[in-house]
Amino acid sequence: MVASRRGSGSITLPTGQTMTIHTRTHEEEDLPHATKKTMADHLRKYESLFTLTPQRMRMIVEAFKDSLELGLQKPKQVVPMIPTFVFGWPTGKESGDFLALDLGGTNLRVCLVTLQGEGKFEMTQTKYRLTEEQKQDEGQKLFDFCAECLKTFVDTNFTDEDGTSLLKPGELLPLGFTFSYPCYQSRIDHGELIRWTKGFGAKNTEGRDVAEMFRQSIEKYKIPVVMTAIINDTTGTLIASHYVNPKTKIAVIFGTGCNAAYMEDVKNIDKIKVLKINEQDQMAINCEWGAFDSFEHEHLPRTKYDIIVDETSNKPGEQAFEKLISGRYLGEILRLVICELIDEGVLFLGQETYKLETPYVFETAFLSLMESDPTDELLMIIGIFTHFFAVETTLAERQFFRALAMLIGRRAARLSACGIAAIVGKMDYLDEGCLVGADGSLYNKYPGFADRVHEGLIDIFGEKGRNIKTVHAEDGSGVGSAIIAAMTKVRRDAGLYPHV
Ligand code: GLC
Repeated sequence: MVASRRGSGSITLPTGQTMTIHTRTHEEEDLPHATKKTMADHLRKYESLFTLTPQRMRMIVEAFKDSLELGLQKPKQVVPMIPTFVFGWPTGKESGDFLALDLGGTNLRVCLVTLQGEGKFEMTQTKYRLTEEQKQDEGQKLFDFCAECLKTFVDTNFTDEDGTSLLKPGELLPLGFTFSYPCYQSRIDHGELIRWTKGFGAKNTEGRDVAEMFRQSIEKYKIPVVMTAIINDTTGTLIASHYVNPKTKIAVIFGTGCNAAYMEDVKNIDKIKVLKINEQDQMAINCEWGAFDSFEHEHLPRTKYDIIVDETSNKPGEQAFEKLISGRYLGEILRLVICELIDEGVLFLGQETYKLETPYVFETAFLSLMESDPTDELLMIIGIFTHFFAVETTLAERQFFRALAMLIGRRAARLSACGIAAIVGKMDYLDEGCLVGADGSLYNKYPGFADRVHEGLIDIFGEKGRNIKTVHAEDGSGVGSAIIAAMTKVRRDAGLYPHV
């Protein structure tokens, strides 16, 4: 007689799909191919591949610091260290109504933010999911779509019941455009796309001023807005988090992509000396650290799975750091390990495994779910494999998958700690300590991610690492964008535009 168990429940994935788990499991004698012993042996191999020692982390931090410095000194470096033309911290008194349009890795959001001063705000928003096609189609079409959504939002929120506009004749609403891809900026309302990241590939956009492209779309749809600033999500997060908690010195995003921003003294940004900006000023820097170690691959420990992820991506060689960390890639790394073990005849012998063979079918959300499965039998993991991939798993396999998810998730968090440590070290924040505003699906939803980042910081700095704390950030792409639009308005009104 085969012992069997039942479990039930349901989960909702980020894609919006709901998965009902109502599963019957057999003891593993039924599936003789994956015993505890063989899985434990395999796990040891992956443990050594994916584990980062404190010593190795410190070496990465040193190399990282050098890259940050180089990016500040010279234009067009691997880590571009982009001057954002966001000058200094908000006062907390910023107030008024602002629109924010956020073109992120997965969604498009339109927000109306009312800043009330004293670090307080209110927000209304609408979210649209971007299709894969939109991400790869003509760039101008993507901006037209953004404009269409913006128009619907403005029409809905700024007309009364009879459909009469609530705006005064000729009135234009100030808009912050959060465009979270690397852009060279020479003013706050200009941004030349260096390259797409996060799997985007919209045509005829790289090398062009995306602010100008979006302005054309705004004109086409005759929307009563004026785009005052183009903002990276990290910069928005930095400013929004500081608005509510002035101890914030650094902002990080761990989501579909991975990046950081911090505030730099203008006198240390050698590459913009020619602009003769007041040396006493400070300016936010969008590091675009996802590019660290790109092309040369000298510092980061890449496994063969990471190399496959890179080489089969739409941008081989690029975003080397991001590809080891961000939500876009972690599921794929795990899938590649599973596929290797299928090929070696270790996993799922005698079962149809073709569903696991499509790149990127294994979502990073599955890793989160696997790690947080509270049941002894790992029913959630059974659900994932039967529901999405139509394969049966033994308990030993499930324990192995969970352990593997932990290794990949932990490595991502420890590498993230290296990036934070590089900024902390460079800016000398360790003794006085600081808060790091953090946002993104990985940070917010992956169980234990923040704790692992903190452990990593202690491994790098010793006990003093406790002085650096990540905290869930305020919505940088919406609220941050509005505050920056407000700060820009103040500078403009004071005649400090473009930037002196
Ligand atoms: C990618 C983008 C960067 C963004 C990050 C997080 O790394 O290049 O601009 O900040 O993702 O969304």
